[in-house]
Formats: sequence, C-alpha cells, structure tokens
Amino acid sequence: MEAKLEARDLVQVFNKQEVLHRIGFTVQDGEFLSILGPSGCGKTTILRILVGLLPPTSGAIIKDGLDITAMPPSKRNMGIVFQNYALFQNMTVLGNVEYALKFNKELRSRSRSIAENIIEQVGLTGHIRKKPHKLSGGQQQRVAIARTLAMNPEIILFDEPMSALDAATRLLLRDEIKRIQKQFHSTMIYITHDQEEAFALSDRIMVMDHGTIRQIDTPENIIRNPADRYVREFVIDKLRLKINSLIKYVRVEGGQNSP
Ligand SMILES: Nc1ncnc2c1ncn2[C@@H]1O[C@H](COP(=O)(O)OP(=O)(O)OP(=O)(O)O)[C@@H](O)[C@H]1O
Ligand SMILES: [Mg+2]
Repeated sequence: MEAKLEARDLVQVFNKQEVLHRIGFTVQDGEFLSILGPSGCGKTTILRILVGLLPPTSGAIIKDGLDITAMPPSKRNMGIVFQNYALFQNMTVLGNVEYALKFNKELRSRSRSIAENIIEQVGLTGHIRKKPHKLSGGQQQRVAIARTLAMNPEIILFDEPMSALDAATRLLLRDEIKRIQKQFHSTMIYITHDQEEAFALSDRIMVMDHGTIRQIDTPENIIRNPADRYVREFVIDKLRLKINSLIKYVRVEGGQNSP
C-alpha cells in the first residue's frame, strides 16, 4: 500500500552541526504514529520539515506519492497542534475556530456552522462565547484541536500537546484525541517524550536518539523485541519504573490485606 506520508533520507544541519542523520520513515493512511525521544533529539525539527516550515538540508517529503518538499505549508493540507495552544487571546472560542475558515474560499460561506459543529464535537459548546483566558489549560488545548480539525486536514501533527497540562487533564485529553482519530479517520503524528502516552495512543512508535531512529514498530513488538540497549533503557525500563511505582502505591493503599 502506498504510504500517506514518507520522510526520505532527511538530513538537517544547523550551524554546521548535523542534528538529523538521514532519517527515513513512512506513515500509513489513518495511522497514529508517535515520535518518542528525549529533549533535543530532533522531534520538532522533523515536524517542521514535514509541514513545510523548515526546508531540510537534504532529503525529501513524499505525500500520496507526490514530492512536496518545496510545497508551501498552506498547500500541504496538514494541521498542527502545539504545546502552547497559540490561541488568539482577544477572540472568543468561536472566533478562534472560525478564523482560518474565513480565509478559505471553499469553506468561508459555511465557516460558522463548521466551527459550531466542531466545537460541539470537542465538548466546548457551553464555552463558545468565552475568551481563552477564561478557560482551563485542557479546554484551551481542546480549542486548539478544534481549530485544527475545522480545516479538515489529511494529517494532524501534535508537538507535545499535553506538556503544559496536569496529569488528570492529560488522561482525559488523551482519550479525547484517540476518540477524535477514530471518528475523523485522521492520520496523526504525535510528538512526545512520555513513554506511557506513546504506548497508550499509538499504532506504531518511532523511538529516536540524537537525530537517529533506533526503532519504529508497534508497541507490542517494541516491548517484545527492543532493537537495542537504548530502546530497552529509554522505553522499557522507564515504563517498568512507572508501573512499579504504581504497584507500590496500590500495596500501600491495601496495606492491611498484604501478607
Ligand atoms: N533553529 C535552530 N537553530 C539551531 N539549532 C537548532 C534549531 N532548532 C533546533 N536546533 C537544535 O537541533 C537539535 C534538535 O532540536 P529539536 O527542537 O528538534 O529537538 P526536540 O526533540 O524537539 O526537543 P524537545 O523535546 O526539547 O522539544 C537540538 O540540539 C537543538 O538545539
Ligand atoms: Mg520539540
């Protein structure tokens, strides 16, 4: 099957330093791919190249079989959700979601109804007239997701969208993103440095280290068959630590019943 999106031999050099070393991967239509790696490994750089905000030093981006490496971002039909929401503070929820639609020739005449519909889908109808500062962080991120969905992009890219949110909100929004993906059949690329998040959400996970891909596989296969020591330590050991700390917590709670 032809890939929805392919990154081919991407190299990125900043100030004579190579930060991406011939990265190659594909994403299938409707797939949820996470890019998992520590700070500075090159995740955001890949995202910027994929959406056209940064021309790669070398390599190519192929979408539906077409080389789009030189295509401007506005023509790529991809949407991005950032960590910091990037909402217009002086506009209401409705205004934020409707904004980009008004610049789109095809969607302009239906912008209001599209926006209202999407706002309902993300559960914010009761807040439609509010400005962003009246909303919680989780609600603001829902507005950002709604704004991206309203443009009906073929591919949605998330750059650590939960990192400013508390743990409980992260869990809620995680389910929400998964539900949205199922409902809209979107192809999603999700950047995170959180192992648990990657495992909960993804069809496949791409594990990165210093501008290279260590492994790209299903969560099950990564657990069963980690490619190398790095993957074992960065992914499996970290997950195990989390699980162990949870189990400890459960034991403390049920202390009287333990032997
Ligand atoms: N515009 C730039 N100019 C120079 N160096 C850059 C630029 N953008 C990124 N870098 C460097 O490239 C490397 C990869 O950065 P990138 O932002 O892609 O990492 P990241 O995986 O997204 O990290 P984080 O998890 O902290 O967001 C880092 O060493 C960073 O300092
Ligand atoms: Mg980043």
